[in-house]
Amino acid sequence: MNRVSNRRVLVTGGSGGIGLEIALALAEEGADVAIQYNHNQSEADKVVRSIEKVGRKSIAFKAQIEKMTEVSALKEDIHSKFGKLDTLVNCAGINRDSLFSKMTDDQWDEVIQVNLSGVYHCTKAFVEDIVDSGHGRIVNISSLVGQMGNVGQVNYAASKSGIIGFTKALARELAPRGTTVNVVAPGFINTPMVQGIPDKVKAKILAQIPMGRFGTPREVAMSVVYLVSEDANYITGSVLNLNGGMYI
Ligand code: CAA
Repeated sequence: MNRVSNRRVLVTGGSGGIGLEIALALAEEGADVAIQYNHNQSEADKVVRSIEKVGRKSIAFKAQIEKMTEVSALKEDIHSKFGKLDTLVNCAGINRDSLFSKMTDDQWDEVIQVNLSGVYHCTKAFVEDIVDSGHGRIVNISSLVGQMGNVGQVNYAASKSGIIGFTKALARELAPRGTTVNVVAPGFINTPMVQGIPDKVKAKILAQIPMGRFGTPREVAMSVVYLVSEDANYITGSVLNLNGGMYI
């Protein structure tokens, strides 16, 4: 019940999909949880109300994480309304799937900017708070697609592999200062992103998952709770795979 009590967390992409479930699970385990969203204010407000129902503090902040100026403003806003963070969960991500032969420059740029530069911007903005806490945690949500590739996702795979390299380098820099930096790499999880895969392709993917099913957002969220908790004090620079055996 209280595996992450007294932590003050920002979950990016917290209004839907995996991020929503991470925000709720951290709150149920005792954390105050701010969420960043881009479009969906009504869903973000619902998440805030659910977190308040379990007795924790929550505020939703709107920001485009691909823009450093917006993330700097987000930091000011979080400092004045929520307080300094000790934990950051970089979960916000998008996909713009296309075979590489048809991929446009915009599809490339958008995915790299949101998924990879977004992680850079948010980490850059909050790293000082997190390290100063003396027990900081950064958890970055990558994907098995960043490890094994996927047809139609050159842009997404590059961004998600980038997150793994980013994490390993930063983990080395921050380990002496008491902050851990880890990756959670989900496989195909039952979210709107996966529901958007054409049925024919979805069936082919399912056939490649040894456990024979897609994962749940809750399963991903509980692995984040673990990495934020004191049970994971000695884990840094790691990639925790949740993929039903699809990539081992
Ligand atoms: N494997 C091998 N070849 C494939 C393929 C696949 N999975 N998908 C497409 N191709 C090749 C085939 O040659 C195919 O021709 P046939 O259908 O005759 O075999 C050809 O590409 C054309 O395929 P489409 O008609 O589907 O082409 P399209 O341009 O309309 O769409 C696509 C291509 C965008 C890749 C589409 O198939 C698609 O959206 N696929 C799903 C991509 C995917 O898995 N996304 C994951 C989203 S979830 C996520 O990202 C979360 C996470 O972290 C895991």
